Amino acid sequence: MIADVIVDLQYGDCGKGKIAHHLCRTGDYTHVIRYNGGCNAGHTIYHEGEKFVTHHIPCGIFFGVRSVIGPGCVVNVDQFLKEVEELEDAGFDVKDLIKIASNVHVITDFHMAEDSKDTKIGTTKRGNGPAYRDKYARKGVRAYEFAELQPYIIDMYTELHDNPEFDEVKILFEGAQGFGLDIDWGDYPFVTSSHCTVGGAILNGVPPHCIRDVWGVAKVYETYVGTKTFEGSDEIFKDIREEGDEYGATTGRPRQINWLDMDNLKMAIAINGVNKLVFNKTDVLEKVDKFCLFSGINMFEFNSSYDMKYWIEKELEDKVYDITFSGNKHAI
Ligand code: IMP
Ligand code: MG
Repeated sequence: MIADVIVDLQYGDCGKGKIAHHLCRTGDYTHVIRYNGGCNAGHTIYHEGEKFVTHHIPCGIFFGVRSVIGPGCVVNVDQFLKEVEELEDAGFDVKDLIKIASNVHVITDFHMAEDSKDTKIGTTKRGNGPAYRDKYARKGVRAYEFAELQPYIIDMYTELHDNPEFDEVKILFEGAQGFGLDIDWGDYPFVTSSHCTVGGAILNGVPPHCIRDVWGVAKVYETYVGTKTFEGSDEIFKDIREEGDEYGATTGRPRQINWLDMDNLKMAIAINGVNKLVFNKTDVLEKVDKFCLFSGINMFEFNSSYDMKYWIEKELEDKVYDITFSGNKHAI
């Protein structure tokens, strides 16, 4: 078994969907597995020129690859079925490809109602926190208990370790949210309720030694959605928000913007064991023509995109060898 993992190194919305889409096209995977989160996530994918936003369903279905919602996730039954229908209408063979691990926990109407009252964290109000709370309190309900989900239910052990359909299982793990929102490593309590790191992927039934590549995804600036104050005072952040279309894919909320924080990034790289790093949205800073980042107690300003990239590469050269800067939403 081989598994590659895509992790977001900031606060979600760094473009994991694009990397997943790219790898699916080239990686000859047998499975794409979502390993954490629920419909709080919004994955924006451009497939053959058309824009799709999925919440639960991994991008494997765009390429005919079996797509699994792993046991680290929580699922909203209505949202899931709605997404299946939308993707079917768009012509994808969703019914045969999409699977849900039997032990996935379900987000109920009660969870949704409770989360809708949140004012403290600024959640996506998708019932995520209450669903995980009930899972850990051992009073949750799991996917196999729902009649509507029966056609999709799999046993994760059999699927990955005892499956006559595949000589070798090759997995692409697609994470949700990001390091800064991770329940343990993020800025608690302004976090989500799941494990967003590579550790969270392994929890879905894959032995650690099977992990091959860890693709870390970041942006050349940072964004965050939630109640804490995150945005800097520079007026340019408003321009970045417009140029970068920085509005939540799930809730439409404006994302707060700030410069790249190198210290946080280095921590996320180290803890996830990133060996392939992609910085997205270089085109956005080029459009607003301002290039800054934080490192230690300093803010650095560069004259050009080139200077900033060069500085970042130098700064990370003993940590990650394979660094890509991308300024195109359709390709790496
Ligand atoms: P929850 O995951 O809905 O409980 O929200 C907790 C925090 O994570 C809030 O600050 C949300 O805005 C943030 N969050 C959750 N999912 C995403 C995502 O997919 N992208 C960006 N932020 C997210
Ligand atoms: Mg997103």
